[in-house]
Amino acid sequence: MADETIDPAETSAPLSADRQETGDREVILRARGVTVGFGDTLILKDLDLDVYRGEILGFVGGSGTGKSVLMRTILRLMPKRAGTIEVFGHDLDKLSTSDLSDLEQRWGVLFQMGALFSSLTVKQNIQVPMREHLDLSQRLMDELALLKLELVGLPRESADKFPSELSGGMIKRASLARALALDPQLVFLDEPTSGLDPIGAGDFDELIGNLRDTLGLTVYMVTHDLDSLHTACDRIAVLGEKRVLLTGTIHDMLQSDHPWVKSYFHGARGRKLMG
Ligand SMILES: Nc1ncnc2c1ncn2[C@@H]1O[C@H](COP(=O)(O)OP(=O)(O)OP(=O)(O)O)[C@@H](O)[C@H]1O
Ligand SMILES: [Mg+2]
Repeated sequence: MADETIDPAETSAPLSADRQETGDREVILRARGVTVGFGDTLILKDLDLDVYRGEILGFVGGSGTGKSVLMRTILRLMPKRAGTIEVFGHDLDKLSTSDLSDLEQRWGVLFQMGALFSSLTVKQNIQVPMREHLDLSQRLMDELALLKLELVGLPRESADKFPSELSGGMIKRASLARALALDPQLVFLDEPTSGLDPIGAGDFDELIGNLRDTLGLTVYMVTHDLDSLHTACDRIAVLGEKRVLLTGTIHDMLQSDHPWVKSYFHGARGRKLMG
């Protein structure tokens, strides 16, 4: 479909994105035939995935199946052997370094492991992407960092704390604040609620939902958390056999006959979803 509805964020962006519509849903990330391996071992083979604008996509799969590898490949932190990855309508392999850098400002990332720099305060951590991509005064960056803290529900006092002085839940929020530093349209979250108690995890899910609603974010969330998949995610993609086996709603997952999907969503830990 042609550009009938113009998103101001798109038109003001340095790159004029080509729209890719599937029905009335705009594909914001499209992976086709993605193959990634280490030595003789293929981790991902011929993987296809679409992520739609404004959705919260839950990405699941057994431990070690390649969820983090795929995320790192999309972010160009890992090379792929074949396939294409388009984000905001741009084939990442075809962009110049400076266009890529512009594009990178439009996504934010929360990594699975130790997302913050331990030697920097929370405020300094949030300012890392700002320093990298923008040329702002310290005063403005301080104001922006406080704004991001407020957005993720952290008190102002946490700005000058070091990660070691924060709880696990606060670290996740501070990491999210950093992922939001450049007002991205798309955020990648790798197990954002792991290690949190169910209430903390529930609060985090609610925060993600609120941010999606208020900022129009698209969220790509790797998670093992069945509660998150049930309550926070609009759609779920299952990684298995080196590719995306299945995508759909939680309802679709519960209907699936695939043995892994069945045992995951109907297993002891998943049983409460059936109620
Ligand atoms: N840099 C690397 N070099 C070699 N092998 C790697 C590398 N990174 C990941 N792997 C391997 O790729 C596979 C997938 O790893 P990945 O971290 O993506 O799993 P995952 O699905 O994220 O698992 P988890 O749910 O435990 O986080 C694993 O077998 C891992 O050992
Ligand atoms: Mg992982």
